[in-house]
Amino acid sequence: MRGGRPLFGKVSISGAKNSALPLMAASLLTKDEIVLDNVPRLSDIVTMSNLLMNHGTKFSICGRRISDQTRHKVSLQSDQITNFTAPYDIVRKMRASVWVMGPLLARFGHVNVSLPGGCAIGARPIDLHLKAMEELGAEIILHNGYIEATAKRGLVGAEIVFEQVSVGATANAMMAATLASGKTLLKNAAMEPEMVDLAELLNKMGAKISGAGTREIEIEGMPSLHGATHSVVFDRIEAGMYAAAAVITGGEIILQNVSMSIFDNIAQKIRDIGAEIRAINSSEILVRSTGNLKPLDVATGPYPEFPTDMQAQLMALLAISNGDSTITENIFENRYMHVPELNRMGANILTRGGVATVHGVNKLYAAEVMATDLRASGSLVLAGLVAEGETVVNRVYHLDRGYEKLEEKLGRCGADIWRVVN
Ligand code: EPZ
Repeated sequence: MRGGRPLFGKVSISGAKNSALPLMAASLLTKDEIVLDNVPRLSDIVTMSNLLMNHGTKFSICGRRISDQTRHKVSLQSDQITNFTAPYDIVRKMRASVWVMGPLLARFGHVNVSLPGGCAIGARPIDLHLKAMEELGAEIILHNGYIEATAKRGLVGAEIVFEQVSVGATANAMMAATLASGKTLLKNAAMEPEMVDLAELLNKMGAKISGAGTREIEIEGMPSLHGATHSVVFDRIEAGMYAAAAVITGGEIILQNVSMSIFDNIAQKIRDIGAEIRAINSSEILVRSTGNLKPLDVATGPYPEFPTDMQAQLMALLAISNGDSTITENIFENRYMHVPELNRMGANILTRGGVATVHGVNKLYAAEVMATDLRASGSLVLAGLVAEGETVVNRVYHLDRGYEKLEEKLGRCGADIWRVVN
């Protein structure tokens, strides 16, 4: 991309990757059809569909044009599950594959899931997932890098206290508990909006879940669940990316298909940096640069704190702010892979332990850079949109995991960005 152009225009925000993935896994809980609307076209969604089809789920996708956007609806039906192993070659590519464990264990009493292995942003163990399954009555054996979980007499409701907040463990335990006998209480549960979305689908399927969106979630087990239709909540992290693009380029973007209710903690940081951001109606948010970028001290944390998935994007903004900022990454132990690449573009960022110190500079300069993980690659694109010259971001397959039609959506707002197909 060639930097230097302020972006002006509208961006239609897609359905949330981190909601669509657990919603798809939840289809394993019933033999009936599950229909999900507003599913983003992302490589992680393809990976999850391949994993589910490997188990025997019937999967189909159809798109339909709404104004100038194509919305995708998927149908999933798990009435003939024949394979109970989530294989290493899929799980190692996408850690969220582990979220098939709760549903398969709850409905069929056994599942083999490959341990996910590490990833670029940290070790990311699944001990909290496994502990929750054991507390629901499962027997867990580690065998050849696979978790063999069995519950011959079915799962039994329990009180589960998570020693640390985990989105994935909350999703796995919530799904498993819907078919356990008796009541389950999850304490210190994740409150992310994507967990609320998952509870909404599960309740439409006949589950009895209350408290989603708080630290305590209660699930009354049912003998079985039935089919349902659900529309995926919008992607607040994608919305944050385009808000940052408007601010870093000194432009103005209207985010569409969004609501401030679950975006406010991200919007507040954009406001603190000095930009204008406000809802202009029930589904649109205006983001306008004021030309002033103030330094900030930010710490990431579980929702409703500032999301770790926006940390790299915010750092790109702070890299050209007029002062010194600190970013404290409290969720992942190695989520600063974007720092060396941003520094190659002229940023002045130091990391020590979990804290990054960002000394704002006047300008960034184009460079050839390497994406290392999904959100890091987002921050390199943001830097490229403002850097002087032509920036090349390599390994854009990372971007395709979480940003649908990125170059198209940015291009529509005037960005000089194109995909180099090699
Ligand atoms: C989800 O990952 C998201 N992924 C991540 O988004 C997001 O960064 C993360 O939640 C935190 O919000 C999806 O929703 C698909 P965690 P998850 O369990 O569930 C540790 C993106 O860019 N932990 O909340 O894997 C873990 O290592 C991705 O879209 C354990 O120690 O995150 C981490 O340090 C990246 N043991 C912390 O907890 C466990 O059993 C939070 O992890 C589980 C987690």
